[in-house]
Amino acid sequence: MSIISSLSPRAVAAPESGIVEVVNYARGREGLLPLWVGEGDLPTPDFINQAAMQALAAGETFYTWQRGIPELRQALSDYYLRHFGIRLPSEHFYVTGSGMQAIQIAIHAITSPGDEFVYLTPAWPNIAAALEIAGARSVGVELQFEGGTWTVDLGRIEAAITPKTRGLFINTPSNPTGWTATKKDLGDILTLARKHNLWIMADEIYARYFYAGGRAPSFLDVMEPGDKVMFVNSFSKNWSMTGWRVGWIVAPPETGQVLENLIQYSTSGVAQFMQKGAVAALNEGDAFVQSNIDKATLARDILCDALIATNRVQTLKPDGALYAFLSIDGVNDSRKAVIDIVDKTGVGLAPGTAFGAGGERFLRACFLRDPAQVTVAAERLCDYILKI
Ligand SMILES: Cc1ncc(COP(=O)(O)O)c(C=O)c1O
Repeated sequence: MSIISSLSPRAVAAPESGIVEVVNYARGREGLLPLWVGEGDLPTPDFINQAAMQALAAGETFYTWQRGIPELRQALSDYYLRHFGIRLPSEHFYVTGSGMQAIQIAIHAITSPGDEFVYLTPAWPNIAAALEIAGARSVGVELQFEGGTWTVDLGRIEAAITPKTRGLFINTPSNPTGWTATKKDLGDILTLARKHNLWIMADEIYARYFYAGGRAPSFLDVMEPGDKVMFVNSFSKNWSMTGWRVGWIVAPPETGQVLENLIQYSTSGVAQFMQKGAVAALNEGDAFVQSNIDKATLARDILCDALIATNRVQTLKPDGALYAFLSIDGVNDSRKAVIDIVDKTGVGLAPGTAFGAGGERFLRACFLRDPAQVTVAAERLCDYILKI
């Protein structure tokens, strides 16, 4: 028996990320403008680093609370009051090692092998892969693309629900499409979940990147106590902390011991000094998050206006999140296209093939970057597009 065939078939079946594939192809090239992965160009701001470094210097290096240090859970509670207008006691919050791990824990908390979970595609690929690795079946339901914009069809979601379905994964604003559920969409999805006794796993990590102003509509705006909604979230995008790997879950307090146990048997908690950095991010970081939002707003306009002006591109400005998701007339194989584009223009994009059904002919560009760099990237891309 070969070494590979002796491994778990589920582990072996996990796909290589289609985003990482192109990054590996052109990583480190001279003059590269990397719009391929979902992160900004700024390192973590100093006030966050200082808080972590002080905790480290003070010897905060021991095992700590599995659910997160009380100070951080309180800071999360205060953050939701400031930005979502809702006071959730700190028992609702659980600190995790990244948004990705929040998703994994939520999957383990909700599903058993053989269960089904419905999600909307095109989608960030990790959700389907994480479900499959856990032995659940990921069931994609396509968003509809018309006139450059994405919409959800409730009938299609309902048609995908079977007796094995345990929940709906709803990422709004969406990576990669920018689709952002309206309050009515959220209310309708919640009604559907209640009717079929399903969990909602709400991934609202881009809620603050909402270009109509304020934050995006949230399930918190429509749900009632007792609704089965588990939120997964992350420090990565708002506070430029992608490399820290810290996230959180918001869940009904009744789930507390189960979530704590799942954290115990995976990472056994996030390092205390990193949690101190996260406290600083929440308590002192509102102005920094706003500067990231302002930058994304400007860069989104620069990139999308330039692309749309070529008249060869189908996309509208996304309502939320950090991505332009565009299709170029005459380009059908996005995997081939991103290689050609990075070779000819030095602009790194992610192929739509990485995001599942409905995404195949699209290209994704993350615009949370210095607007001057985004301007150059837009010029190079438009030049390329007009020559096809
Ligand atoms: C929709 C969505 N959810 C969750 C995550 C996970 O973020 P992280 O693991 O960096 O905290 C990402 C990252 O790109 C994302 O796009």
